[in-house]
Amino acid sequence: MKQRIEEAKKILLDNRKNGYTLPTNNKLYPAQWNWDSAFIALGYSYFNLDYALEEMETLLAGQWDDGMIPHILFHDDDTTYFPNHTTWKCGKNIPSSGITQPPVIASILKIILGNQEINEGHNNRVVQIIKKIKKYHDWFIKFRDPNKTGLISILHPWESGYDNSPIWDVPMSNINVDKELHYQRRDLEVSNSDERPLKKDYDRYITIRDQFREVNYDPNKLYNISVFNVVDVGFNAIFLKASKDLLKISKSFDLDFQDLNEFISLNEKRLLGLFSEENNNFLSQDLKTNNNLNIPSITNYFTLFADLNDDKINKKLIANLKNHNSDEKYFFSSIDPKHETFNEKRYWRGPVWINCNWLVYQGLKNKDKEYSNLLKKRTIELIEEKGFHEYYSCKNGNVMGANNFSWSASLYLDLVLEN
Ligand code: GLC
Repeated sequence: MKQRIEEAKKILLDNRKNGYTLPTNNKLYPAQWNWDSAFIALGYSYFNLDYALEEMETLLAGQWDDGMIPHILFHDDDTTYFPNHTTWKCGKNIPSSGITQPPVIASILKIILGNQEINEGHNNRVVQIIKKIKKYHDWFIKFRDPNKTGLISILHPWESGYDNSPIWDVPMSNINVDKELHYQRRDLEVSNSDERPLKKDYDRYITIRDQFREVNYDPNKLYNISVFNVVDVGFNAIFLKASKDLLKISKSFDLDFQDLNEFISLNEKRLLGLFSEENNNFLSQDLKTNNNLNIPSITNYFTLFADLNDDKINKKLIANLKNHNSDEKYFFSSIDPKHETFNEKRYWRGPVWINCNWLVYQGLKNKDKEYSNLLKKRTIELIEEKGFHEYYSCKNGNVMGANNFSWSASLYLDLVLEN
């Protein structure tokens, strides 16, 4: 175990650039990603608090004036990634993408503050970080729920972080692909094509992006014009938990964020309303067609992370979770292997992802200690046996995607070193 701890630290340090950390050391992702950076900060906090804070500060330096934190920041001129900054054509101080990613940063900061002593020197930095995160949450509430429903929307599958999940299959199938698309993917040059999204997915990703670029990513327009508008269960669960955590942290720093209370209550109520007794599952919603999206995705269990105030539903969730991929040796598969959309290798359509296990583990800890310990043990074993990869097969643990993957290293450190 010792050896893997040192290896994990080395991966983070080797992937570190000027104030931020790449998701991996191979050529797949040559920039800073939003939720990757949050997870990465947690790993650093166990051996270098400065790096942890700096990771977040660098991400927040790319925050737009309206409050959005982009899903990618392109800190250098590298154009080997597609789509790179020359095609997004936006960003405030730092060239960026024009969409966001799961706002897990407040929850990560809360864990770091709970574990580490913050000295005078760090105090001011932390306050600045918290204020920027608050602006980010206000942005979600204002622009991603303009009709004040209590649920926030994502407007692009990339915003979810689980890019080609089957949750998006139906909403994506309704999108007419732009006929004039000219682009060249770069991911297939460094990854196996059967482990990556399909061309038909990419065509649609780019079609939506081009639509946003045409209106200059104006947040007042995107919600209504976007051909993709989904209320995703996992994303709302992360947002709800992060809002609760932000409110808690703000109190320790004498900041008054009481205005968050109203959205938190409504968000929780409406999220609970997405539980379907009939399907015994949470259902995401396609706002373009008003249809429910019933896919047995591990991301639906992020509702455990949200600490919903409903014991009956939490118990049901845990019972379902125990059946999610009970027939396989490695858990959790991103999609239930018994479902028709499951694919052992294709990215977010089946493989095991360490960040999903980690989020579910956080949610289980205060609800089913025994099972949470089992999940922790199995996740640690998977990494110790196979190494720090991007994703793994649930059938045999075979490794896929990038190696030396930063969030796998970082979250391993948290699992092994947490109190
Ligand atoms: C992929 C993943 C996304 C992640 C990024 C960088 O796009 O789908 O969740 O943030 O790679 O690791």
